Amino acid sequence: MEKHSLTINSHIILIGYMGCGKSSVAKYIANFADLKHIDLDEYIVNKESRSISDIFNLSGELEFRKIERAYLIELLNSREKLILSLGGGTPCYYDNINLILNSTKNVCFINTPNNVLSKRLFKEKSKRPLLNSIDSENKMLEYVSKHLFERMPFYNKACFKINSKEKNISEISREILKMISL
Ligand code: S3P
Repeated sequence: MEKHSLTINSHIILIGYMGCGKSSVAKYIANFADLKHIDLDEYIVNKESRSISDIFNLSGELEFRKIERAYLIELLNSREKLILSLGGGTPCYYDNINLILNSTKNVCFINTPNNVLSKRLFKEKSKRPLLNSIDSENKMLEYVSKHLFERMPFYNKACFKINSKEKNISEISREILKMISL
């Protein structure tokens, strides 16, 4: 892969539903453009020394959302400009979406169809505490359709939106790189 060293003036932030490819796209862009990538979930796991599932199961979702917000703020305040992949729920709690939008013009929503997400998520549901009790692909589609509909108003506040249907990670990443302001 040919690399291009990019200097950015503000963070690039990827948002979207679980399974839309935020982390993979962010990794690709970081590698391609020589930027530092931080995935909020991974950051939380490292800082808290426990898995996201353990935080949900032992402390509850509310506690997870508080922790998630605290680390979001820490990362948004980082002097070094980063490419950040957030959790699917991060923009949808408290006033997180405003903090995100106030920190940069480069907020991108990766929009992926319900049926693509639900197929992907059914295979990987054990990693995700909100989904791991869903026991059929049909129920997953039902859950994802409703949940994504509720979250859409938050995701739609992003500065730009990429429809990821039938695009691979490299195509999505290149599209984002064309849209961002340096
Ligand atoms: C969540 C998404 C997850 C993780 C947690 C809750 C959500 O991140 O933060 O399981 O509420 O959508 P990914 O979007 O990276 O799976």
